Amino acid sequence: MTQLSVNLPGLSLKNPVMPASGCFGFGREYSEFYDLNQLGAVIMKAATGEVRYGNKTPRVAETSSGMLNAIGLQNPGVDKIISREVPFLAEYNMPIIANVAGSTIEEYVMIASAFNNTEHVKALELNISCPNVKEGGIQFGTDPDMAAEVTEKVKTASDLPVYVKLSPNVSDIVGMAKAVEAAGADGLSMINTITGMQINLSAKKPLLANQTGGLSGGAIKPVAIRMIYEVKQHVSIPIIGMGGVSTAEDVLEFLLAGANAVAVGTANFQNPYVCPELIENLPNVLRQYGFDSVTDAVGKGHV
Ligand SMILES: Cc1cc2nc3c(=O)[nH]c(=O)nc-3n(C[C@H](O)[C@H](O)[C@H](O)COP(=O)(O)O)c2cc1C
Repeated sequence: MTQLSVNLPGLSLKNPVMPASGCFGFGREYSEFYDLNQLGAVIMKAATGEVRYGNKTPRVAETSSGMLNAIGLQNPGVDKIISREVPFLAEYNMPIIANVAGSTIEEYVMIASAFNNTEHVKALELNISCPNVKEGGIQFGTDPDMAAEVTEKVKTASDLPVYVKLSPNVSDIVGMAKAVEAAGADGLSMINTITGMQINLSAKKPLLANQTGGLSGGAIKPVAIRMIYEVKQHVSIPIIGMGGVSTAEDVLEFLLAGANAVAVGTANFQNPYVCPELIENLPNVLRQYGFDSVTDAVGKGHV
């Protein structure tokens, strides 16, 4: 039998597939389509200190092979996430990963501490890379020193393993990965969206109210694969890979590049059943390419 299970810091996964942050809300809508118990884990929508209503609309646009979004971290705030959303997800037999986003180091630390002792939340994903929030924020995701500082402070405040989610909007992704590993990160999540823009021909101006947005989906898969491949050669902490995963073959490609597990984002909007479908297909694809387990395939694409 093909072994799908994966053990990562804080996370005992029955399979390596989880919905990516922001593309699954808190699971309520998708729970009407299928049994969430099938998922390896779930990564919740970003938590900020206070409620956020996000950016003005239009804030999403379809592109030729993916989408642009500038949602702007809309969420009910960390307290409501803990009191209302975590208990819903905790009904299911899967680890919950909390995605943490802040404008200041103090905000990251406050949110991370709030998740201490929240049963079923088994790890934090530190979103240092949201491209769509302008006000007051420091560019944690593009400055290795700032990325290291926020990682270190959160590690000190939190009892949970910390996966730092890297931004692809940098020229030296390896430098960012090494900086957060040295600061104590337990794992990496990569990649977030790539800054993009679309022009509305009739209006002759940017289509999104925010002007720019984050590009995700199939269009960014080769960038994600390249970055994971490069980073894998320089760090020893595990990687949750994401960026355009939509088939079981994509999952294998991410594993071969060096990811230990994958998150599925935009594909959920195209096909709400995508996660259970690729969990079902993964054993066949692994077998077809000569692997008995998920862990066997990790990093095997390296020359
Ligand atoms: C509509 C939308 C909302 C997102 N919200 C978040 C978020 O709250 N926190 C975060 O870390 N990433 C967020 N992301 C990024 C995704 O988690 C993921 O990293 C990215 O979309 C690449 O994966 P994909 O190509 O499979 O979508 C969002 C992406 C989309 C499309």
